[in-house]
Amino acid sequence: MRVLVTAGPTREYLDDVRYISNASSGRMGVALAEALRDAGHAPVLVIGPVSVPMPHGVVVEPVETTAEMLEACRRHFPDCDGVIAAAAVCDYRPRNRVTGKMSKTGEPITVEMIETDDVLAELGHGKQHRWVVGFALEAANERENALQKLRAKNCDVVVLNGPAAIGAEETSVELIGPDGRRLAAWQGTKRSVAHKLVEWIERHLAARQPQNDTHR
Ligand code: CTP
Repeated sequence: MRVLVTAGPTREYLDDVRYISNASSGRMGVALAEALRDAGHAPVLVIGPVSVPMPHGVVVEPVETTAEMLEACRRHFPDCDGVIAAAAVCDYRPRNRVTGKMSKTGEPITVEMIETDDVLAELGHGKQHRWVVGFALEAANERENALQKLRAKNCDVVVLNGPAAIGAEETSVELIGPDGRRLAAWQGTKRSVAHKLVEWIERHLAARQPQNDTHR
């Protein structure tokens, strides 16, 4: 299979030197790309700015902003069998990016923020025969919110995790299906969880697809 993986944070710039972002390390997405590669698949990793080393034997598309992530995903998704969206995408961006560097004024400032495009929602709604695995980072009403995201973004399953996963070596996840049921639960290193998820996808999502790939 050829599989698109989104990973890492995105950055949204206030001016040419300042941005808002989050503490995502990109580890989960890199572990997923490695697990896919190890299982004989062809991952395409679209990844925001991170300091972890990039995996060998994987097509890597580094991006910075959400708009760049969306553009790269639009380009690669049509050639893929599915997507795993592990990126911690910035939900808001400043409405205006100032050219150069904003100077201090000695007064509080207000920055108007608008929503960024939802990369996963766009891929989900245009998925046709492809499978779509989303992530949901929830701090409260976890399963309910995860199910809402699954529906809103037209995912086949959602990997539910918590804020402790951001930037961490280990993670604890639940796989939530379209009826809100827990289909699996795994915890451990992101590497081990990535392998479990790839195995699950092979068994439950890839198996139902027409076999037209040359990568396996
Ligand atoms: N996602 C995305 N593009 C965005 C926001 C989120 O592709 N602009 C994807 C993430 O990669 C993840 C899923 O959508 O697979 C859910 O992300 P999450 O941060 O949990 O939720 P949001 O949709 O951002 O909603 P909220 O922040 O309100 O919980």
